[in-house]
Amino acid sequence: MSLPADTFRRISIIEADITTLDVDAIVNAANNTLLGGGGVDGAIHRAAGPGLLAECRTLDGCETGDAKITKGYNLPARWVIHTVGPVWSGGRNGEEAALRSCYRRCMELVEEYKLRSVAFPAVSTGVYGYPSAPAATIAVETVSEYLNHSSFIESVFFVCFNSRTREAYNAVLQASHGQ
Ligand code: APR
Repeated sequence: MSLPADTFRRISIIEADITTLDVDAIVNAANNTLLGGGGVDGAIHRAAGPGLLAECRTLDGCETGDAKITKGYNLPARWVIHTVGPVWSGGRNGEEAALRSCYRRCMELVEEYKLRSVAFPAVSTGVYGYPSAPAATIAVETVSEYLNHSSFIESVFFVCFNSRTREAYNAVLQASHGQ
């Protein structure tokens, strides 16, 4: 995958706690209930406060591969886009298509809400066990498809919370920019 320079320059790999980022939207790696959990889901709900859960209760859950948006409440981010990634079970049960769908649906909401900046965690690579390297490739490929035709979105941050994730994303970006 080779990224056009204008797409490449709008993508950043950062190491951070996603709940601290002052962006238009952060993406939550949620579960189908949307009622909170551990990992980044737990961190986002703790930081956002009870208003987030109250709004999530009105959404009637979320299908795997889909995404739904709520306000950010006490977070610095204005919005939270909740997406539910696939549970890794060996790679022959539609996991790749479901993970691509997560990133596609999140970017559709970014465009629909005219958001200029969005931060993604490494969806499905924690509790759900998706291997970091293929997940990073899917994330960068799918998000870039939107950036290639949408100059409105100014910044996409892929947020790494451990070195495994950071190495996976850096490898993908280096391969995609001919470095
Ligand atoms: N900021 C950024 N990234 C984070 C943070 C944080 N504060 N906390 C965890 N992460 C990273 C993890 O290190 C991992 O790389 O987010 C990535 C996704 O891991 P999980 O949060 O475990 O999400 P996932 O693998 O998609 O599993 C989702 O876990 O928490 C439950 O309710 C959630 O059932 C759902 C499942």
